[in-house]
Amino acid sequence: MRIKNVTYQKACHLIASNIRDLIKTHTTSVLGLATGSTPIGIYQELSKMRDTNFSDTITFNLDEYVGLNGWHPQSYNHFMYEHLFANLTFKKRYFPSVNGVALYDDLIDAYGGIDIQILGIGTNGHIGFNEPNTPRDSKTHVVDLTENTIKDNSRFFDSIDEVPSQAITMGIETIMNTKRIYLVAQGKHKKDILEKAIYGDITPEVPASFLQEHDNLKVFYCD
Ligand code: PGA
Repeated sequence: MRIKNVTYQKACHLIASNIRDLIKTHTTSVLGLATGSTPIGIYQELSKMRDTNFSDTITFNLDEYVGLNGWHPQSYNHFMYEHLFANLTFKKRYFPSVNGVALYDDLIDAYGGIDIQILGIGTNGHIGFNEPNTPRDSKTHVVDLTENTIKDNSRFFDSIDEVPSQAITMGIETIMNTKRIYLVAQGKHKKDILEKAIYGDITPEVPASFLQEHDNLKVFYCD
């Protein structure tokens, strides 16, 4: 496994192009989408693809906060609307929810699984909201956010007190079951954890390290 060191624009362009190729060659495609600052450039690239028809594509979001309704500006529903769904029409768009938590993995399976999953990485090595020491066999579940993640995400809120303390996330097993993964880390503050995840020991202390066992993973570092 090798980390590709490329510009952020290049990584986003490449990933968006691979999504377009998938969609053009499949009747129905299933995408696993992430939020946060990392994937914004990918969504900008996709939004420009006026020659591609996304109306047979299904999307499953990786995670969502507990306790923010879909129109809250910091909810991931709202984030996706702002950065992608306002620009492109998809067949179905799914988000994990407290009520649907037990059925999310089954729903993904019912569509034949996720073809391409976009992932960022947290500074503590989390993927989705799978914080350190999440079991390898976890499915979609509700999590208590760590102080580290609440602190990292507080930059998007008016104050740290407004950051929800819980979220719903695809589990590590859910992510490992996806057919192809693009993991992107942007910024010097992510370099050490990315290298630890990809070149270090596979350990629940660094949830992203499990990705080393995925047989179709591409990793990009953009400084
Ligand atoms: P970021 O978050 O893209 O906002 O850096 C990534 C993550 O925490 O998974």
